[in-house]
Amino acid sequence: MWHDFTIGDYAKHKFFDVPQLGDRQFGLTLLETFPACAQKRWVPYYHFAIVRHGKDIGHLNFRVANSRIITEYDGHIGYRIFPTFRGFGYAAKACETLRPLLRLHKFSSVILTCNPDNLASRHTIENLGASLLEIKEFKDVPRSMDRLKCRYQWVL
Ligand SMILES: CC(C)(COP(=O)(O)OP(=O)(O)OC[C@H]1O[C@@H](n2cnc3c(N)ncnc32)[C@H](O)[C@@H]1OP(=O)(O)O)[C@@H](O)C(=O)NCCC(=O)NCCS
Repeated sequence: MWHDFTIGDYAKHKFFDVPQLGDRQFGLTLLETFPACAQKRWVPYYHFAIVRHGKDIGHLNFRVANSRIITEYDGHIGYRIFPTFRGFGYAAKACETLRPLLRLHKFSSVILTCNPDNLASRHTIENLGASLLEIKEFKDVPRSMDRLKCRYQWVL
């Protein structure tokens, strides 16, 4: 599973031109898009700043792939809110703001994952209305990686 990456899988991948999602009060500003990279085993992804009233309060990545490592381990969306801005549900709001782009990429649902002990992330995902599919154990992961992942399905 950790070696299921083939650059050819992403040869036809196209990024949409979405400089801004949301509105002036709360939105996502595209910082960069990254094409697939075989060497780093990266699938194509969008990297956004989460912006509230013009201020950068965190980051969100949308990984555009359905490889096993994405659907079983990493999940389609990654997010981080800077510590001083936590406590207001902004990560869930950012995921909601991403919805139109998920739809443009023809996703009807996405997989969100987190470590079982990451309660802030679990609540974020549950607040979106996502359903827990399983808590999966990975016995063959390198030591630097997490052994357990909660896998949720978020139906859009
Ligand atoms: C996960 C993260 C993005 C959430 O940030 P946020 O949007 O500010 O989330 P909030 O602090 O508003 O918390 C969201 C929910 O989790 C709950 N929560 C937060 N911290 C919690 C904790 N330590 N224990 C239990 N619940 C907690 C909140 O009560 C809230 O739930 P509620 O709306 O049902 O009350 C943020 O904690 C973060 O950046 N963490 C580090 C990076 C990370 O873990 N990213 C996710 C990787 S999968």
